[in-house]
Amino acid sequence: MSQIMVLLHHLPLLFLLLLLHSAATSASTNNRHNQTFKEAPKFDNSPDCSTSTHVHVAMTLDATYLRGSMAAILSILHHCACPDNLRFHFVVAASAAAVTHRRLNATIAASFPYLRYDMYPFDDASVAGLISTSIRDSLDCPLNYARNYLAGLLPESVRRVVYLDNDVILVDDIAKLAATPLGDTVVVAAPEYCNANFRSYFTPSFWANPALSITFEGRNACYFNTGVLVIDLERWREGDFTRKIIEWMEVQKRMRIYELGSLPPFLLVFAGNIAPVDHRWNQHGLGGDNFRGLCRDLHPGPVSLLHWSGKGKPWARLDAGRPCPLDSLWAPYDLLHNPSSLDT
Ligand SMILES: *[C@@H]1O[C@H](CO)[C@@H](O)[C@H](O)[C@H]1NC(C)=O
Ligand SMILES: *[C@@H]1O[C@H](CO)[C@@H](O)[C@H](O)[C@H]1NC(C)=O
Repeated sequence: MSQIMVLLHHLPLLFLLLLLHSAATSASTNNRHNQTFKEAPKFDNSPDCSTSTHVHVAMTLDATYLRGSMAAILSILHHCACPDNLRFHFVVAASAAAVTHRRLNATIAASFPYLRYDMYPFDDASVAGLISTSIRDSLDCPLNYARNYLAGLLPESVRRVVYLDNDVILVDDIAKLAATPLGDTVVVAAPEYCNANFRSYFTPSFWANPALSITFEGRNACYFNTGVLVIDLERWREGDFTRKIIEWMEVQKRMRIYELGSLPPFLLVFAGNIAPVDHRWNQHGLGGDNFRGLCRDLHPGPVSLLHWSGKGKPWARLDAGRPCPLDSLWAPYDLLHNPSSLDT
């Protein structure tokens, strides 16, 4: 499939949406729960494919971010030498209505008829009780915490999984990411950022309390983003890390030790003890500036995965007719069927 062709294919739609900007904005909100998607092409193993080792990929699925998830799945298939080896594991909110589950499943099944996947209801209601209420809404969705529970949700036969956020596009073979060396003991691999101000992820009262801050003593703790993770589920289960993360969430409920949602408990448990992944696998921040909505550029260096973390999402900016320059890299993977049926 030529990406240029797909891009051209969308130009009339973008032009129309530009003209109907305000109407399109409200329509896309109303239609969110009734989007229809195109069928993706079938992807076969390429002649370069020389392994039958399964690559397990976990993502959450919900109505709000479905369009992002669909594009992410397509990008993974498109750049994978061995698409037949892929096994997807979709986590859905157990609290969502059965009709929502059926619709999500029907959408995946219709657009990716050849995909091997399972769906797992996640008890988001029990997590909701652990989340402090004052955290910003977008970060506070219980499904964001599903990555903490993969070891209990996925079958024991799955030893290693790649967890991905819904707002990513891969432009490289996910099997390379999945093959990240974890050594003999490491549980989690992710791109680390040791120049980030690690202290800023926790409150002054956390750092002022030696009983808490001692947790980082002797650890070379660096920030890492939890949108792209390679997890050894067997070691995770052995170390009971889900419970360790929950314990920090319980501390946070009693006293405020961090500001953000699902990330800091991960840092508390794993920072300084993860295996590094090349930064090319998380070109993050493309969602832009959280306050002023400014566009962001790529970080220097090669790119294997683009991540629209931050407030802005490429599909929303494209619909609004105000895309950031890099959103044109997301658009070729958009499977949304033109709602005004220009392209039926
Ligand atoms: C969703 O779309 C389908 C088919 O396009 C239509 O039959 C159905 O009535 C729509 N549902 C809602 C809630 O808009
Ligand atoms: C999803 O839909 C497919 C195709 O209709 C069906 O075979 C499968 O059992 C469904 N899975 C779930 C978890 O509902």
